[in-house]
Amino acid sequence: MELIYRPRRLRTSDTLRRMVRETRVSKESLIYPLFVVEGKDIMEEITSMEGQYRYSVDQLPVILDRLLHAGVGKILLFGIPAHKDIYGSQAYDQDGIVQRAIRLIREQYPGFYIVTDVCMCEYTSHGHCGILDGEYVDNDRTLEYLNMIALSHAAAGAHMVAPSDMMDGRIGSMRAALDGAGFVNVPIMAYSAKYASAFYGPFREAAGSAPAFGDRKSYQMDYHNRKEALKEVELDVAEGADLVMIKPALSYLDIIREVADRHDLPVAAYSVSGEYSMIKAASKAGFVDEEKVVCESAVSIYRAGADILITYYAIELARYMDEGKIG
Ligand code: PBG
Repeated sequence: MELIYRPRRLRTSDTLRRMVRETRVSKESLIYPLFVVEGKDIMEEITSMEGQYRYSVDQLPVILDRLLHAGVGKILLFGIPAHKDIYGSQAYDQDGIVQRAIRLIREQYPGFYIVTDVCMCEYTSHGHCGILDGEYVDNDRTLEYLNMIALSHAAAGAHMVAPSDMMDGRIGSMRAALDGAGFVNVPIMAYSAKYASAFYGPFREAAGSAPAFGDRKSYQMDYHNRKEALKEVELDVAEGADLVMIKPALSYLDIIREVADRHDLPVAAYSVSGEYSMIKAASKAGFVDEEKVVCESAVSIYRAGADILITYYAIELARYMDEGKIG
């Protein structure tokens, strides 16, 4: 055969295959989601997320040391308060669970980069992501509360805030609030395209944040839609988002690609709880090879255009990168 092109020629050795790789990954771009719970001496496994735990503030060093050792220096903090009310008041309390966790980490682990999830569903008695008007989440009133939450996180020492509520206008309003309080250098990572997804199921068990009635479809996006995601991203960029996030990741690779192609700012993807738990369960049953599936799915998210990956598998992925399994 007189073939001009033989694509297999570049696949003849491991050395060559590694040389011509198109997607490069690094530990610098990994963020690990971390659940902090009220109480003392608590490190309890999350039933629906084997290998993931809720930690009380005093137990945080257990996971922070593991992360440090693995070379993962970035966390996304979620708080699980003891007390919930209709205003989610523990979310913006200076002595709230997240605020205390931030202060401990800043004091004892100054090398960590702390991103905080800014939302109300873990803190409200009804489990919705804002202030209710009847059964509807009141957009504009919720913005005031989100601002208070973001400000309290920044005041406690958060490096970056990540609003995950999906209210309209929250980025502009939060930027103004942060700037007004002197936090001009606290970036906002907007959960811009956040879909109403069944893949959040295990998280809601982890955080005790399932809505008491109804669902989140009046604020999170319908998964049939693509243009709507682009619109959401456009609005967040126009309002001053520093980074945008797509969530979940694996079922939304098309959206990640399109956002990465259209926008110049960094794109994060959140590989959510259900994605983690599905791989765990399937590998535990012996149906797939956990390590290989974790590597392949993480690389596919980067290949789709993500610059940053938020994942419960961050520690394992860091090891696979060290071992040269992906790179
Ligand atoms: C809202 C929030 C959720 C997740 C991150 N932030 C839950 C939701 O919207 O119901 C889900 C993350 C995951 O599933 O891993 N505070």
